[in-house]
Amino acid sequence: MKHLRSIDELGYEGLVRLLDLTNHMVEVNSRPVPKVPALRGRTVVSLFFEDSTRTRLSFETAAKRLSADTMTFSVSTSSVNKGESLRDTVETITDLGVDAFVVRHKSTGIPWQISEWTSASVVNAGDGWHQHPTQALVDCFTVRQALRRERFDGLTLTIVGDIKHSRVARSNIAAFAMLGARVVLVAPPTLLPPDVSHWPVEVSHRLDPMLGETDILYMLRLQSERMAQGHVPNLREYAETFGLDTTRVAKLPQHAVLMHPGPMNRGVEMMVDPSTIANSLIHQQVSNGVSVRMAVLFDLLAGESSASHLAQVAS
Ligand code: NCD
Repeated sequence: MKHLRSIDELGYEGLVRLLDLTNHMVEVNSRPVPKVPALRGRTVVSLFFEDSTRTRLSFETAAKRLSADTMTFSVSTSSVNKGESLRDTVETITDLGVDAFVVRHKSTGIPWQISEWTSASVVNAGDGWHQHPTQALVDCFTVRQALRRERFDGLTLTIVGDIKHSRVARSNIAAFAMLGARVVLVAPPTLLPPDVSHWPVEVSHRLDPMLGETDILYMLRLQSERMAQGHVPNLREYAETFGLDTTRVAKLPQHAVLMHPGPMNRGVEMMVDPSTIANSLIHQQVSNGVSVRMAVLFDLLAGESSASHLAQVAS
């Protein structure tokens, strides 16, 4: 694998390979000194044109735990502010000598564009509304770990909220469907793409009737920064219709798990404090973020000698 830009490009075998590899990285991260020399001499640059907390920090931590060197590109202090184009920026960073770009950008397709301009690997850390493949890997891994199963046949994943603007939803729909889950989208029509008939999903405009058949409840934030105009009449009405409160939690089956990619908007989609929900996986999603991104960087960069490197990681 040269790049990780979308779940479709990764495919079923790639998805399973990375999820299996993540188990080794979880083991590394459980050691007193969670660091291995696997990527010594490689350089990873994070190129974030959009805000991020979890994704950026977990990629940088992942690179360091594999002993790669890291470079951080900060738009606000870069020559982008002097009018330098994205292409010139990418070519300049490539000339400095990097092995992988981790890219987040508000426009769809930028990671594909960048991979035309550099010989380095490109990892998509979120492009517009389009894809966020490592978040889907995190979420699939977290469900595998929590439910102790490798495939999701017979499970219903209910994704609630702003599907229209969500790259997390698009990547998760592809990944969970590949692993056999039934995927149901719950949103008002204004927060759904105009046509989802080609997606492997069912759609419901009401949350309450879906709760009883949900195994994995996945809440999304209203991504207002990506909205051209208001898509909901007002936040209170949205929260009442689609927000998760204690009454709705009580309607979930006992075994159902709760997920959210963060950042959370408390009082909107989360009317309940998730720390009071026994089956919340939200903290595990964040901590698995490091192990999953280690697996991705290892898979992309360990190269020819990856088998012996893996032995090193596992030892
Ligand atoms: C998401 C993102 O940026 O796409 N967050 C994340 O990476 N964990 C979701 C969001 O912004 O709502």
